[in-house]
Amino acid sequence: MPDALTLPEPRTPDPADAPPLRWGVLAPGHIAHQWTTAVLAHTRQEVVAAGSRSLDRAQAFADAHGIARAHGSYEELVDDPHVDAVYVASPHSHHHDQALLALRAGKHVLVEKAFTRNAAEARALVEAARDADVLLMEAMWTRYLPHTDVIRQLLDDGALGDVHRVVGDYGVRTDPDPTHRLLDPALAGGVLLDLGIYPLSFASFVARHAGLGLSPRTVQAAGSLTSTGVDAQISVQVGYDGAEAQLFTSMLTASGHTTHVHGSEGRLDVDDRCYVPAGVTLTVGDRTGTWDANRITGYGGLSFQAAALATYVAEGRRDSPLLPLDETVAILETADEIRHQVGVVYPGE
Ligand SMILES: NC(=O)c1ccc[n+]([C@@H]2O[C@H](COP(=O)([O-])OP(=O)(O)OC[C@H]3O[C@@H](n4cnc5c(N)ncnc54)[C@H](OP(=O)(O)O)[C@@H]3O)[C@@H](O)[C@H]2O)c1
Repeated sequence: MPDALTLPEPRTPDPADAPPLRWGVLAPGHIAHQWTTAVLAHTRQEVVAAGSRSLDRAQAFADAHGIARAHGSYEELVDDPHVDAVYVASPHSHHHDQALLALRAGKHVLVEKAFTRNAAEARALVEAARDADVLLMEAMWTRYLPHTDVIRQLLDDGALGDVHRVVGDYGVRTDPDPTHRLLDPALAGGVLLDLGIYPLSFASFVARHAGLGLSPRTVQAAGSLTSTGVDAQISVQVGYDGAEAQLFTSMLTASGHTTHVHGSEGRLDVDDRCYVPAGVTLTVGDRTGTWDANRITGYGGLSFQAAALATYVAEGRRDSPLLPLDETVAILETADEIRHQVGVVYPGE
């Protein structure tokens, strides 16, 4: 029996060590509840205000989480002098306008994935953040998780040899109410921006750390649309020099959460739930090794990105080293091309 491989330990700081910032939550829906619960449980961040289109909903959210201040409009939230950073957790269609509101009020901003509807909106936010001299970050939480840092080190160290293939799949059978944001073109619904953005971002992460570049050379997509005209399922192949990523996403079938990276010397497999805190297995020849020591699990992992933002602010950074804004923009350029090929256009684009 060959010796087991030892994987590197993640360098991810404990989220409780990040210096506290005063946060305001903009749009208190499903993920805002999860994020606030995680941040209050695992960090020293202070969630000081909630803002909703309705004062009643803001107050109910504030009461549920012990938050001192509730605002009945997003404008009031971003103008609150007690707030240093705003977490934007609205539907994709509104990320640009609401993040812009917060940036122009001089706040640091964490924007839920997908960052914006398209690359043009993302570029406009990047420019606004530069003008305001504040930190703007995409809340692609997987980038900030410990297992992602294990993968980052393996890629940076060339543990797989030359990377030739990435396979990623995120399919969840969902049968939402016809009025749900997922099905609504006006809210930039569709599975690509909701779930497909995870494998797309993962492929970009691998490409960056494997030296394959910021943007793929080719994009070939196929997909099925819902009766409302958004994407229900997408298969895409993105090509780099000497490497391809095959990526799948679906709201029609529970295809699983599959993530594999194949190189000339070895293979890396991430656990089934690869976008939340997960385990990683490396195989090189007949030797394997696994890292799977997550102390914070499930949605608790949302705390890492908030802690990262607070640390970067304290360090005076204006871009995330783990997911720089030029990469966020490049990922959305690929998403734009995929939507173009499958025929999804949002109203007003
Ligand atoms: N990181 C993750 O694991 C994860 C998981 C799920 C979702 N997300 C992301 O989080 C964002 C929000 O998703 P969600 O599932 O939390 O959505 P949700 O439950 O529908 O909440 C969205 C909130 O946005 C506000 N909003 C503002 N304008 C709106 C409009 N025109 N229509 C509907 N709501 C509007 C609403 O709050 P008020 O009206 O009270 O202001 C609503 O509660 C999306 O970007 C999504 O991709 C991330």
